[in-house]
Amino acid sequence: MKVARFSRIGFILAAAGSAVGLGNIWKFPYMTGENGGGAFVLIYLLTITLIGLSLFIAEVILGKEGRNDAVSTFETLAPRNKYIWKYSGFMIFTGVLILAFYTVVIGWIIKYVVSSVISLPTTVKEAGDAFGAMVTTDATSQFIYFNIAFFITIFIVTKGIKKGIEKVNLILMPMLILILLALFFYAITLDGFSEAVSFLFVPDWSKVTDTTILKAVGHAFFTLSLGMGTIMTYAASLPKESNVLRASASVALIDTAIALIAGLVIFSFLFNAGAEPSAGPGLVFISLPPVFADFGSLGNIFGVAFFVALGFAGITSAVSIVEPTILYLTSRFNYSRIKSLFIIGLLTYILGVMALLSNVKEYAQYVTFGGKGTFDILDFASSSVLLPLGGIVIAIFVGYVLPREKTYSMLKAYMNDTIFSLWYFSIRYLVPFAVLAVMINKIFF
Ligand code: PHE
Repeated sequence: MKVARFSRIGFILAAAGSAVGLGNIWKFPYMTGENGGGAFVLIYLLTITLIGLSLFIAEVILGKEGRNDAVSTFETLAPRNKYIWKYSGFMIFTGVLILAFYTVVIGWIIKYVVSSVISLPTTVKEAGDAFGAMVTTDATSQFIYFNIAFFITIFIVTKGIKKGIEKVNLILMPMLILILLALFFYAITLDGFSEAVSFLFVPDWSKVTDTTILKAVGHAFFTLSLGMGTIMTYAASLPKESNVLRASASVALIDTAIALIAGLVIFSFLFNAGAEPSAGPGLVFISLPPVFADFGSLGNIFGVAFFVALGFAGITSAVSIVEPTILYLTSRFNYSRIKSLFIIGLLTYILGVMALLSNVKEYAQYVTFGGKGTFDILDFASSSVLLPLGGIVIAIFVGYVLPREKTYSMLKAYMNDTIFSLWYFSIRYLVPFAVLAVMINKIFF
């Protein structure tokens, strides 16, 4: 299988585009708000450094060495019992499940871009009612915006790694960073900024429970796109001369910086208006629009800028969620890119519509299973079960299945022996056990 190659900056931008997504701008701030601010941030930062980065490096070296889809890479590199690795194909389905609910949320975001132009709610109550009404009663407009999000994503992916994914990231990532920085520099001038800084960086340990730690670990995986072969798939297109360590560290750094900047922006605006940080998943949809409305017509510009940035972040991640499945189908079944996309698209579309309807009161009963709506099932099955499981499989493969000398030979050009030993320790012990703890906690408690 011959895969197209990124340019060097193309890889970093695409991997950063994948990592930086709804996880950073939508999920990270509300999780921080719900889990005690600074203490959660500190644990999250530690997790990214000690666990997330190690697994990221592991996915990059596997992708670079295998130059193929994730499953074929495992099979080719495994020294024995190669046949077992075809079961790692479960990772390929994770993408379909994530994409289905992810595009529903991108649909909401596109709707919020449009409504920010027209009018912003002036009170949190009004915003909450509007968000609630959209999600629970307005199937039609959710369906229309879901379709827009879905077809934008599919269209970009039809163009392939170089002409689609690399090109889109080359434009959208710098734009996202520019919009966020503009909002950030404005946020610095607000009275709420210093409160936001202390909320994010001064830990209040009394709010930390063992679930805080586990949530931070889980989020570190989701935010770095780990555990489903996305990074492996992008790394299969890594140019030969790339520095694995530098590229991985840059992506982790960009991802973390954007989450922190987004957090500072959102909390500065919130505290400035005296709003609560612990509004949960509705935080950016409910708490922010009335805060923007306070700024008059400047607020409409803030609103549009913010939701456009969030939409860009979502799209560049969405395309990276599809790509592992595409490479899997094209390489192992010899399907064309279009045929593969058609199959994945059809599955995602059906699941996406079911997810969307499961939040709508009128239809929820038809798409609720075991008391849980399709939207929640997809989110739970992917983030709490399949991604962590994929992370464990990758760590076990690199830490135990591949001989140490082989792994060492893949990394020795980029790190000295001490760093290698630390990384190897993390892959063999920290990653599998920490992730296991996350899974057991999420599934059973
Ligand atoms: N990292 C993305 C985000 O933060 C989500 C994602 C998960 C993308 C898994 C690809 C694979 O939103």
